[in-house]
Amino acid sequence: MLLGVNIDHIAVLREARKINDPNIIDAIGICKLSGADQITIHLREDRRHIHDEDAINIIKLSPLPVNLECSINKDIIDIVCKLKPHRATLVPENRDEVTTEGGLDLASNMEKLQKVIEKLHQNEIEVSLFIDPTQQMIELSRELNVEWIELHTGSFANIYAMLYGGLQNSHHSIKELELPRNTLTKKFNNSIQEIQNASKYAHKLQLKVAAGHGLNYQNVKYMTNINEIEELNIGQSIIARSVFTGLEKAIIDMKKLVQ
Ligand code: PXP
Repeated sequence: MLLGVNIDHIAVLREARKINDPNIIDAIGICKLSGADQITIHLREDRRHIHDEDAINIIKLSPLPVNLECSINKDIIDIVCKLKPHRATLVPENRDEVTTEGGLDLASNMEKLQKVIEKLHQNEIEVSLFIDPTQQMIELSRELNVEWIELHTGSFANIYAMLYGGLQNSHHSIKELELPRNTLTKKFNNSIQEIQNASKYAHKLQLKVAAGHGLNYQNVKYMTNINEIEELNIGQSIIARSVFTGLEKAIIDMKKLVQ
């Protein structure tokens, strides 16, 4: 199983002061040396962390393939086609969100997605769709002729945190903490089953399967048990740990778990 390291949060720290410290370019060599297989960045419409110049430099200098997450907004897709990353992962975007919430709504956007995907393919960029783990989303992904899907693991990670700890009191799902423990356990098992079924079905339809969102050093073992998942994209937990251990060790530790 491959590890994509999402380095957006290094830019989040930089943006706290609006100076070039930490310098995100320093991260790409460390990712390579520590055994990461891919660099993942998200060029958001609001540019709240990664800026265009970061994306240009990372794609130019990275010794690893770059997976660029982006919305299907026309201006962003035009930029991505010029940047020519190895892969574009199409994600939903909403200005008020703290992070990506849920997968892309493929059913309501088929026509637009078809055009966007065609354009990315014309520019020799492979395409991944960030989707919820449902049969319908996988069938629509197949119809859209993409190479990859990335299964959204956020719901699984939230339920894990409700069961075993890790949620802040202000978290929007806190109400669910009041659910009886056996109901939470059932929900947790269902969420793993959903991801497992989706991975198998996508693999059967010859889609490459990645997964990500909310994965950490504790919950990642449930994903590494699923043979059809080829790659995990992980950001927050690695960058958070790196504050205490350094980025190199944080990546090495995660890579050991992922392998
Ligand atoms: N995959 C996708 C498509 C994402 O949008 C994100 C968050 O930017 C991640 C993976 C990484 O999520 P996390 O930071 O929770 O590990």
